[in-house]
Amino acid sequence: MGILDNKVAIVTGSASGMGKAIAELFVKEGANVLLADFNSDGAKEVSDALNSQGGKTEAMKVDVSQADDIHSMFDKAVELFGTVDILVNNAGIMDGFEPVGEISDERWDKVFDVNTKGVMRAMRKAVNYWLDNDRKGTIINTISTGGLNGAHAGVAYGASKHAVTALTKNTAFMYAEKGIRVNGIAPGAVETNIGSSMTNMSEFGFSRAQLTHGLSPRSGKPDDIGHVAVFLASEESSFVNGTIIVADGGWTS
Ligand code: NAI
Repeated sequence: MGILDNKVAIVTGSASGMGKAIAELFVKEGANVLLADFNSDGAKEVSDALNSQGGKTEAMKVDVSQADDIHSMFDKAVELFGTVDILVNNAGIMDGFEPVGEISDERWDKVFDVNTKGVMRAMRKAVNYWLDNDRKGTIINTISTGGLNGAHAGVAYGASKHAVTALTKNTAFMYAEKGIRVNGIAPGAVETNIGSSMTNMSEFGFSRAQLTHGLSPRSGKPDDIGHVAVFLASEESSFVNGTIIVADGGWTS
């Protein structure tokens, strides 16, 4: 018995990093998972490994910045598993560290299309699915401590993640009475592809020590975030709504 037995989850950005860990831990807790990533080979590899251990998962090529892909992703999960209970909007890009004086319109739009508009579209699809079918559901957004505070990250990334914080809180507030919960996770520095891009920041004029304020005792592992996602997806967090859980080892405390 797992705490997500027979639940159906969609996890975006699950070919690597935190999304992969979230999918793995969800399966361990009994969930069926659609792994949605634009790295379809990577997602298939994760899915095959999980299925060989008895998991029920499927991989799908999805670009979260494309509206049609969001619709197909949801429809596919329903076709495969009968419904959707949990949506994890985890796919994201960092794509540069420019401050506002240097940001181009193109970079801004690219980061927002993936990190913010993609999340909004998936949330809209999920909420309408649950309302139309008289079902309850839960949404978890992978945000960032850079979506709560000023940080040594690019302005487009920080602003895109602050927007997801607002999306999370507004949607939780607006749909709480319908039994829809929406929460976020704000990871600090986690060892993933994106995480390693943050360790080489000297070209942007600041060091990792500045990035972490020297407070974090260690960098995070993807499973550190996965365990928080399992809690937020489960009934054990049924009274937690509209909250962003910071998982950063104390970095921003
Ligand atoms: P990662 O690079 O290992 O994983 C991101 C995944 O998203 C990849 O599998 C990638 O193929 C996928 N992806 C990227 N663009 C996509 C798109 N348009 N459509 C579908 N899939 C797409 O990086 P990580 O760190 O696991 O990132 C997960 C989330 O965590 C992101 O939203 C990121 O902004 C956030 N985050 C990461 C931190 C870190 O230190 N690693 C810190 C705070 C937040």
